[in-house]
Amino acid sequence: MSFFFAPDKIVCPTFTLRSYVVGDGALLKEAQNSSYEHLRTFMQWARPEIRTNEAESSTRKFRARYLLNEDFTIGIFSRDEKKLLGGTGFHHRNRPLTEGVAEIGMWIRADCAGQGLGTKVLIEMLKWGFSDWQWVRLFWRCSIKNIASAHVARKAGMIQEARLRNDYISHLDGSRNDTLYFSALKGEWQV
Ligand SMILES: CC(C)(COP(=O)(O)OP(=O)(O)OC[C@H]1O[C@@H](n2cnc3c(N)ncnc32)[C@H](O)[C@@H]1OP(=O)(O)O)[C@@H](O)C(=O)NCCC(=O)NCCS
Repeated sequence: MSFFFAPDKIVCPTFTLRSYVVGDGALLKEAQNSSYEHLRTFMQWARPEIRTNEAESSTRKFRARYLLNEDFTIGIFSRDEKKLLGGTGFHHRNRPLTEGVAEIGMWIRADCAGQGLGTKVLIEMLKWGFSDWQWVRLFWRCSIKNIASAHVARKAGMIQEARLRNDYISHLDGSRNDTLYFSALKGEWQV
């Protein structure tokens, strides 16, 4: 039997990426509640006001699923881990881990967005994903209307490989747009 123990944390020059742990709920609540307007267009899960207990319950579920290799939701923390700057993750969506394929998702808190952080985090996730993790293909997808998201993928060296017409359905009003797919491959990716 082979075991996979997911890397738990990486400390980068200006932020720390790590699995959520028990007690992170208050940080998650503060980051999301201060970012609702910024998140609501493209993040289906965004809500105007979450309570600490709800957020704590989410962070515990993230932790549990991480330890079980079910889904790898990762917090983007300030280097000293006192503030949550956003969230990311490797999401393999029920595909066997041995296939080495995952989607990277991301949100950055409103008061840190548009300052280059998303691009830096994506580059670190790709670097980490192709070294300490066993991913061989990492992909990113977004609505064609999500200019910042597509821009971040391109700036991080991901290659646009598909445009799915009318595939993206807005959770706000049901309107349809195209979905863009980007990917990076181990051994080929470079910024
Ligand atoms: C998408 C997101 C993760 C990007 O993170 P970020 O830290 O804001 O990204 P960066 O600052 O590294 O880069 C954003 C780039 O998009 C550009 N940009 C942002 N909005 C733009 C717009 N409306 N039109 C054109 N360019 C835009 C910025 O100028 C910047 O490019 P530059 O560095 O060349 O100036 C973040 O904005 C976010 O959390 N958005 C809401 C949630 C979301 O949509 N997540 C992605 C789902 S696929």
